[in-house]
Amino acid sequence: PTPDSHVPRDPRLIRLTGVHPFNVEAPLTDLFNEGFLTSPELFYVRNHGAVPLVQDEDIPNWEFTVEGMVANPLTVTLKGLLSEYENVTYPITLVCAGNRRKEQNVVRKSKGFSWGPAGVSTALFTGVVMKDVIERARPLRRAKYVCMEGADKLPNGYYGTSVKLNWVMDPNRGIMLAHGMNGEMLRPDHGKPLRAVIPGQIGGRSVKWLKKLIVTAEPSDNWYHIYDNRVLPTMVDPDESARNPAWWTDDRYAIYDLSPNSAIAFPAHNEKLPLQDAPEKYTVRGYAYSGGGRRITRAEVSIDKGKTWRLSNIEYPEDRYRAYEDRQLFGGRLDMDWREASFCWCFWSLDISIEELQGANDILIRAMDESMNIQPRDMYWSVLGMMNNPWFRVVIHKED
Ligand code: MTE
Repeated sequence: PTPDSHVPRDPRLIRLTGVHPFNVEAPLTDLFNEGFLTSPELFYVRNHGAVPLVQDEDIPNWEFTVEGMVANPLTVTLKGLLSEYENVTYPITLVCAGNRRKEQNVVRKSKGFSWGPAGVSTALFTGVVMKDVIERARPLRRAKYVCMEGADKLPNGYYGTSVKLNWVMDPNRGIMLAHGMNGEMLRPDHGKPLRAVIPGQIGGRSVKWLKKLIVTAEPSDNWYHIYDNRVLPTMVDPDESARNPAWWTDDRYAIYDLSPNSAIAFPAHNEKLPLQDAPEKYTVRGYAYSGGGRRITRAEVSIDKGKTWRLSNIEYPEDRYRAYEDRQLFGGRLDMDWREASFCWCFWSLDISIEELQGANDILIRAMDESMNIQPRDMYWSVLGMMNNPWFRVVIHKED
């Protein structure tokens, strides 16, 4: 038995670390086949330690505080959050900064376990806009950051990090305190009963099992804010970074917004393409996402190692949820405040003739977002192996 023996889990999930803590992703094909919304069973999990045990009868009285540089410190219960604040539902894609780290570890071992490309999942998150709560606490004028702390006690203290106060106060960023996921209570692995959700940023900022919001003048000094979720300069190796703490305290290297990224789900890495007596075309398909509310505006496929590129078709399922009719489907609770922004993955696809695939060795995908940020050809290796987003490649295996 582990400290998490009380937590139910799906056997399809692939364990990326030992038995405990629990870090898993779904097989990419299973994740992709689920479509736009990921069921809680296959949603990726990144836990640094044991899942706090919360009895159901204690959930309404779950408390968190708003403290620090505020004129009116608050203690809020989950019951209060549900009754005294407007509750909204947003579709949001969460991505671990370590998504696709395995490719970095193949080139050179980083300080991190090997995520495949399924450290990404999407859900309808229900909760309260964080701004509404922070506003009631009345931040002081010099306040600049909101630090968050979870209930999970780890070797280096409670898990915590921070985001900028002006992001929290911007309704178009959709930063929220969520208690629901796809119409049900959060599952234990995803922060039951309350978590922060920071759309468009790496998952590491979305603190689970939330206990504290601390308004400050400086970024979080929590150990996990400083020694995790960073892209250090590429020449800094594990030994050098361990010797020299100055690399870690420079907030310029902290990751916030996601960068453009994509992956090919079909063909899968070991899939054999039916090249004889087959249909004329094969539909190459996968996902793409970017950060900071920036929409993916193109996803390009190459079957000649990047010499030439073809434009794929992109589907944005989130747009369905923006439509009034769909809002009705969710009991009127789907309230899109950020009409200008995009915080979800999208799906691209492209038909390629079997004949052409027969003559190729591999398939490449690269995505670009509305700021014309594009996935690079080359990998940027760094000591934590995070934000890996070079062109994604699948080798073509042909039927014998
Ligand atoms: N919050 C707490 N309290 N403890 C954690 O270990 N992990 C973070 C973040 N919030 C973590 C946390 C990281 S690194 C990620 S990527 C996301 O939670 C993962 O969220 P998920 O497990 O619901 O997918």
